[in-house]
Amino acid sequence: MKSKDKSKQKAAQAAVNYIRDGMTVGLGTGSTMNYFLEELKHHVHSGLEIQGIPTSKQTAEIAKENGIPLTDFSQTTKIDIAIDGADEVDTNLQLIKGGGGSLVREKIVAQAADKLIIIVDASKRVAQLGNFPLPVEVIPFGWQKTAAYLETFGCKPVLRMADKHPFISDNGNYILDCAFETINEPERLHQQLKQLVGVVETGLFINMADMIISARNEVVEKMT
Ligand code: 5RP
Repeated sequence: MKSKDKSKQKAAQAAVNYIRDGMTVGLGTGSTMNYFLEELKHHVHSGLEIQGIPTSKQTAEIAKENGIPLTDFSQTTKIDIAIDGADEVDTNLQLIKGGGGSLVREKIVAQAADKLIIIVDASKRVAQLGNFPLPVEVIPFGWQKTAAYLETFGCKPVLRMADKHPFISDNGNYILDCAFETINEPERLHQQLKQLVGVVETGLFINMADMIISARNEVVEKMT
């Protein structure tokens, strides 16, 4: 296993310790989360009783394959804890997410959860957000104009593609990956971008994470 994968697995294993019997658990999306689902599977098979709320069709499928019981917002709106990955994490626990294209559902689940734990390999930790292009989910209608508005904030928006076609999110929308060199005021930028009519949501997760669990190989570190 590559060192980055080992680190993701270590962070994921550390996060499982926060899951208790009876909890409703928000299940994020991505390769780090897949290690978490793998670990959670073992605990569920050993008798841990939880129900998960997946943040993507991909996570729902993997959770089902692993025998992890699932629920949805039609059954409960109370989420005890959410576990998710991230693309960048700064020293104030602010995040860029959405590299996997699930940012809207991830943010809905994160907002609904009593506690959000982010699991990352240590390379995702940065002094300042912005090196990773900020994913912004937009309505397909008029996306070209929305991209032009986004550009006025100092970024280069690129329409995310998959197999030569625009990538379609689970919500039927497009993603514009917006390369800023640095993001000096993440909260302000998020608020400004949210004002644009075509923008559904940005990948800036502001004041949402309660804890970051990061790992570099065997060494696990927790930030709160
Ligand atoms: C998906 C996400 C992921 O959490 C983020 O992209 C990190 O993914 P990975 O664990 O594969 O590095 O925000 O929308």
